[in-house]
Amino acid sequence: MQLQCLANIRTLAIVCTQWGDTGKGKFVDYFAEWADIIARGTGGANAGHTIVLNGQQYIFHLVPSGILYDNQGKVNIIGSGTVIDPGVILQELAILQSSGLPFNHLRISRNAKLVLPQHIVMDRVRECTADGKIGTTGRGIGPAYTDHYDRLALTVNDLLNPDSFVAKLRRNLRDKVQFLRTIDPETIREIMQHEHLCSGTFYDAHDIFNEGAIVAYYRAYGDTLRPMICDTDALLRAAVGKQNILLEGAQGHLLSIDYGTYPFVTSSDCSIQGLAKGVGLSEKQVDLTLGILKAFFMTRVGEGPFPTECGGMASATWCGTKGVNRTLELEKFGSISVNDPDPFRQGIGIRMAGHEYGATTGRPRRTGWLDLPLLRYAVQTGIQGLILTKLDSLDGCEVIKLCTAYEYQGPDYQLGERTLRRGDCIDVAVPHSDVLQHCQPIYREFPDWLAAAEQPHELMTVIKYLEVEVGKPAVILSVGPDRDQTIVL
Ligand code: IMP
Ligand code: MG
Repeated sequence: MQLQCLANIRTLAIVCTQWGDTGKGKFVDYFAEWADIIARGTGGANAGHTIVLNGQQYIFHLVPSGILYDNQGKVNIIGSGTVIDPGVILQELAILQSSGLPFNHLRISRNAKLVLPQHIVMDRVRECTADGKIGTTGRGIGPAYTDHYDRLALTVNDLLNPDSFVAKLRRNLRDKVQFLRTIDPETIREIMQHEHLCSGTFYDAHDIFNEGAIVAYYRAYGDTLRPMICDTDALLRAAVGKQNILLEGAQGHLLSIDYGTYPFVTSSDCSIQGLAKGVGLSEKQVDLTLGILKAFFMTRVGEGPFPTECGGMASATWCGTKGVNRTLELEKFGSISVNDPDPFRQGIGIRMAGHEYGATTGRPRRTGWLDLPLLRYAVQTGIQGLILTKLDSLDGCEVIKLCTAYEYQGPDYQLGERTLRRGDCIDVAVPHSDVLQHCQPIYREFPDWLAAAEQPHELMTVIKYLEVEVGKPAVILSVGPDRDQTIVL
């Protein structure tokens, strides 16, 4: 691969500058051709990477997107900063196997933390009972990371040592059962019937959890994964500077527990720092970090403020309604144009055009215009160049809107040493949800978008504008899901 941006680069990281779902899967796959090692460092089965190979679509949650290069001897790593549901990995390996695709070079960190059935139960109980709903993916991510920081977690290595697995599992279950006894037992029983919880196998009417079943399942997981479990941190440290390493971010900067739109975030640090740490490296060992974004719209799944959302609250409520998916939207609305004059309907039009439905949950993604204040905020953390994706999604759109700044419209708010007042202008977003929910976008319209999208020169005018506004160069454009629908600048 002869890319200008890869000259003298040994370690490349790709992270998302938005709320995830920006097309990292495609670009990890794209750069995997160059890489010798592809590694993930954060998150778990909440992620969903869609890759299209020879017209065939693959969706992975845990296995790195470089797995389709296993036959070329490339090593794929699930790093120590991740939380791993072994049942999900086994499902993904089964898909690879049935497609005749090898996974001989997949390595799993012995230090990664396990997602256990109780984590999935806790996640779902919280989502259906608490008033502070986050809209999680229900994969047990938050409770698994909580246990890590609470020093109650089990590691992948525990799968290899049945006696200590059982002892640690008991301690962990005791901690959870105490809380779950305060919840309506029928709610718990119902949650435990879910396929992600092996369809009721782990349920016990008396003890809530059937410890024996969990032990049996996880022992079998350990037996299958044993050849892949190793010290991946050491493997990567030894390879730095010698081999081409591609670090694959998960979720996005605005979902980072440390930098995102807290508390509506995931429970890992999705930034370049979090990613590097999650594979046992320092971000100083990363030669190039590319930030990926959708252009010129954005999406968000789950709850939380989204200033440029088309249709505002109506859209957020609709997208958060149980059972809404692509089929239902098509039935109810037919096919809506991306030029619909009603913002709520236009949002649906953009969602349909961009196929913006969750890879993990099938949920409709909330859609809105590209938000430069949030992008300016996100790129501050080590992003050196931008990858703009999904430029084809707004094909046929007559006018696009870019949010260039916000007007604060909330009550007086003390933000550290600064008092925010109604009417204040904000051009670099403050990620606090308390502030963001009161930010009214100020838009610049590009009325000739339709013409621009068809003429490279006009398109570049808009991209140049974005580069100047954000202070980072665009290096790659993506105009479709396939590898050859990629323009290197
Ligand atoms: P959790 O990661 O399942 O705890 O979910 C926390 C928040 O992050 C929710 O708003 C999810 O919708 C969002 N989220 C988690 N993973 C992804 C992802 O891969 N893409 C988009 N949103 C995600
Ligand atoms: Mg995704």
